[in-house]
Amino acid sequence: MFRSIRIASSPARPPGKPRAGSWTSTGVFAGETALPKALRELDTHANGELARAVKAPGFKADAGEVGRAGERHLLVGLGKRDELSLKTLRTVGGRLVRALDRMRATSLDLAISLSVPASVGSAQVVVQAIVEGMVLANWRIDAFDGIATKNEKPLPPLVLHPHDKSMRAGMERGLALAESANYARRLAATPPNICNPTFIAQEARRLAREMGLKVKVIDFAEAKRLKMGGLVSVGQASKHKPCLVILEHSPKHTSKKSRAKTIALVGKTITYDTGGYSLKINNTMKGMKYDKSGGMAVLGAMYAIATLDLPVRVVALLPAAENMVAGDAYRPDDIIEMHNGVSVEVTNTDAEGRLVLADALAYASRTVKPDLIVDLATLTGGVVVALGSWCAGLFCNDEKLKTRLLDAAERTGERLWELPLWTDHKDFMRAKHADIWNSGPKRDGHPIQGAAFLSYFVDEKIPWAHLDIAGVSDVESDTDLFVTGPTGYGVRLMTEFVSGFAR
Ligand code: BES
Ligand code: MN
Ligand code: ZN
Repeated sequence: MFRSIRIASSPARPPGKPRAGSWTSTGVFAGETALPKALRELDTHANGELARAVKAPGFKADAGEVGRAGERHLLVGLGKRDELSLKTLRTVGGRLVRALDRMRATSLDLAISLSVPASVGSAQVVVQAIVEGMVLANWRIDAFDGIATKNEKPLPPLVLHPHDKSMRAGMERGLALAESANYARRLAATPPNICNPTFIAQEARRLAREMGLKVKVIDFAEAKRLKMGGLVSVGQASKHKPCLVILEHSPKHTSKKSRAKTIALVGKTITYDTGGYSLKINNTMKGMKYDKSGGMAVLGAMYAIATLDLPVRVVALLPAAENMVAGDAYRPDDIIEMHNGVSVEVTNTDAEGRLVLADALAYASRTVKPDLIVDLATLTGGVVVALGSWCAGLFCNDEKLKTRLLDAAERTGERLWELPLWTDHKDFMRAKHADIWNSGPKRDGHPIQGAAFLSYFVDEKIPWAHLDIAGVSDVESDTDLFVTGPTGYGVRLMTEFVSGFAR
């Protein structure tokens, strides 16, 4: 695949003698054999190649189908006209980038948006979706390829040529969002022997320097002083002690509407989850390096939010710990005191995510005092059983916040589905010898138990949402947009969500 995808600084080249490796891609709807009006002018420069290729047998213009028209044109199927969506356009982008890779392309005139009706989205939004798809699908994990891996000579970057301002704006936003997601994916894929809590703190400091964010790290000693019993207990058995990483984006430009708002984003950052003494058996431990995906999604979102300089104050909190087994590990039966004074009876050391999140949520509520909180966490295997990999589970105590999140989910294709969180669920978490236990005596509704536990650590007056992303943070086989591995789920969702406060 391409080393990178970038945007040409000059406008689209004038039509004329094509250079080798430079392609034009145009969109075609299924069942439509006449060339759309917007493409006719293009076709006069292509000697009627497009009109002929659209009618060619074999090309059905199914969504994502790519056909060739002459020496430098790709026809891209958009499927049925009335079924086209931004989701389809991302898929189209993914398929297109693979076709360009096969053609050994080096530069692309992305004219697909000219065929897309305005009902699907503005030209900018349409181009953004295609470029997002291209950049997500182009990403690979190759940082750990050793000498035994035969690397093909790396390809040059793919250069995109916009026609006008709105196309350029769409390309820039699509690139920023997808590259931020890819940044989160790269960190999520970094193995636990390298990516430990100390590594996370260093990476946060580096990101802060690069992007002009404020950074603060609450280390192990300070976490103990602050009575963060959850973070301390979960992380104490690791050689790499736990910490709470805090990043802050203060906008350079604000609008009247967004000025006063502070949004807190909290991400579960368990760099490895062995389960602790409630050990993960039967090979269920494999893959638990992805248990930091919530935190990596928040880091990726901060990268995008800073890149776009969104006019909202955003504070990111990453409780980072490695859940290990050792002589000083916490045990089932331990009773611990959390940052907000709530006492917890540990019934299962494998329900560790909620313990580190609890202290971060309590710290956010008491010290950051944001206008709203969203947390993302690979919290339960149960949410994978319930919802599969099609969406994340959503728990929310505020209707307005819920609407905003569901809107952003629809726009980004990073879907959410609401699950209930009632007083009954909260009562179920009450323990006999402490305020609450970290896992109830029955397996019923594990994702809800997790959310109910967390609710004890959020100020009831603060609108709060919990996203259980265990089913969507990584894929087990290649899809149109993602190679096997982390997806960066949450980066585009959170960035779009924060953008909503700027409009
Ligand atoms: N990190 C896991 C959740 C998980 C499981 C994520 C599978 C991705 C795939 C979490 O810490 C965990 O172990 N949860 C337990 C909770 C239980 C002990 C209450 C679970 O889901 O079984
Ligand atoms: Mn666990
Ligand atoms: Zn976990």
